[in-house]
Amino acid sequence: MCGIVGYVGPREAQPLILEGLRRLEYRGYDSAGIATIHEGSLDVRKAAGKIVELEGRLEESPLVGSHGIGHTRWATHGAPTTINAHPHTDGSDRVALVHNGIIENHDVLRIKLEELGHEFRSETDTEVLCHIIEELFDGNLEDAVAEALSHVEGAYGIAVIHADEPGKIVVARMGSPLLIGIGENGEREMFAASDVAAVVRHTRQVIYLNDGEMAVLTADGHSLLDISESGNGEAPRRVSREVSRVDWDLGQIERGGYEHFMLKEIFEQPDTIRDAMRGRLLEEEGTAKLGGLLPLEDVLENVERIVITACGTSWHAAIVGEYMIEELARIPVEVEYASEFRYRRPIVRDGTLVIAISQSGETADTLAAMREARSRGAPIMGIVNVVGSSIARETDGGVYIHSGPEIGVASTKAFTGQLTVLALFALYLARRRGMSLLEGREFVAAMRQLPELVRLSLDESSAIESIAREYADNANFLYLGRGFNFPVALEGALKLKEISYIHAEGYPAAEMKHGPIALIDQNMPVVFIAPSDSVYHKVTSNIEEVKARGGKVIA
Ligand code: BG6
Repeated sequence: MCGIVGYVGPREAQPLILEGLRRLEYRGYDSAGIATIHEGSLDVRKAAGKIVELEGRLEESPLVGSHGIGHTRWATHGAPTTINAHPHTDGSDRVALVHNGIIENHDVLRIKLEELGHEFRSETDTEVLCHIIEELFDGNLEDAVAEALSHVEGAYGIAVIHADEPGKIVVARMGSPLLIGIGENGEREMFAASDVAAVVRHTRQVIYLNDGEMAVLTADGHSLLDISESGNGEAPRRVSREVSRVDWDLGQIERGGYEHFMLKEIFEQPDTIRDAMRGRLLEEEGTAKLGGLLPLEDVLENVERIVITACGTSWHAAIVGEYMIEELARIPVEVEYASEFRYRRPIVRDGTLVIAISQSGETADTLAAMREARSRGAPIMGIVNVVGSSIARETDGGVYIHSGPEIGVASTKAFTGQLTVLALFALYLARRRGMSLLEGREFVAAMRQLPELVRLSLDESSAIESIAREYADNANFLYLGRGFNFPVALEGALKLKEISYIHAEGYPAAEMKHGPIALIDQNMPVVFIAPSDSVYHKVTSNIEEVKARGGKVIA
């Protein structure tokens, strides 16, 4: 996952951009680079590998200038080499550009540019944009960028500088997050970033760009433009947007004594679950108060079918949501991968509510699925963590999970935050559809206990760690659960794959006998999720089946 940082103002750009890139390291990357402009000339340093490699180059040969852009790249087109690292430049070394996303028609554009005599240095899709801007530049960078983008198909968040336009950064967005940060405390400076973590140390005043928008940044200010119609020959239209205030503090995006962010975030869960419920549980009425759903009140009164769309961990949370809503509120629910939903012809009839779940609020497939649903007339609700994110802005109503910044790319506290909000939502619907006051009050009382129960589980961490050490050399794992814990088993297997690079599969426990049982022997540890719930005895029978085949059980 790539990262973008830009700076223009009175300070030296290199250290500020480097610091911003370090804040984005958690997203994973395989090369990095920075470009600045000084006294009318463009200078670039890039390195494959970690940011320390780039720092090494900058120590040997520092960049000067108070105006520049930087990038961390996760290779998609072309190997993770120094040449393929961003920023990319044009043939005359006047334009430098960083890009997140994929230019889908880069092949065609490249051939046309080569016919015009442009020579390419890298294997990336991004480089075509530099050459198009070079071709179109006529003294005004924003005009060249707007026109260049009208030739591009695909997704982008970009930041561009030009040696002939000192003190200016042009940024634009289509399907890949981008924001601008406005200097605080009277500082005449501006930042650009793909993630607020990169700038929050210097400013909390940010503007999130929407798809089809471009912003021109100088030390003195910014202008925001709608360029979505530039392809039809229309001039960019000025847009005004309120400045959002980021309410995170630096401590939330630092590790706070933990070895890594994921561990910190796992241990934050008693607090984040409490925060997800704060002010939302009504003891007396035995229900939940969800203010963000007010605009959807009529829809929820008449809803006949719910479709939940999401990716990854959020998709697993959606399945738990499906089980809860169907069991408690008796409303049919379907869960669909956003990447599938967006490319099908999904059926959306009157009475269908579509819910998008996303930690970041920026996942491209989820955003596209939502837009597909909207184009078919569905009302859209969001369950999102990042306040002011694209998904949050484009829904008709929704519920924030209030988990705070989740820096670890593998979602943890956001998953339990999503489950908490889905439980509140299921309760809210159920109380309107037949759940008794007494049942509602019991549900509220049970939810109140959640943070403490999670804390007790976390108290077991050293025992869990010693089990993990014992099994760390195994190459395959099975995760099994039934009912609500079937999707939890899927999530457990995803976490193991994503974090440990160990192959793991999640199954409904009873499905094991229909195939996967053939794999079970002493080399296949099986993780059972078996709380004392209505299917506990069924799960213990499955445990016996595994033991009978010599499998190792972790329960
Ligand atoms: C993936 C992450 O890229 O995106 C997963 O690796 C995450 O951990 C998924 O669950 C969906 O992200 P989001 O922000 O839409 O919940």
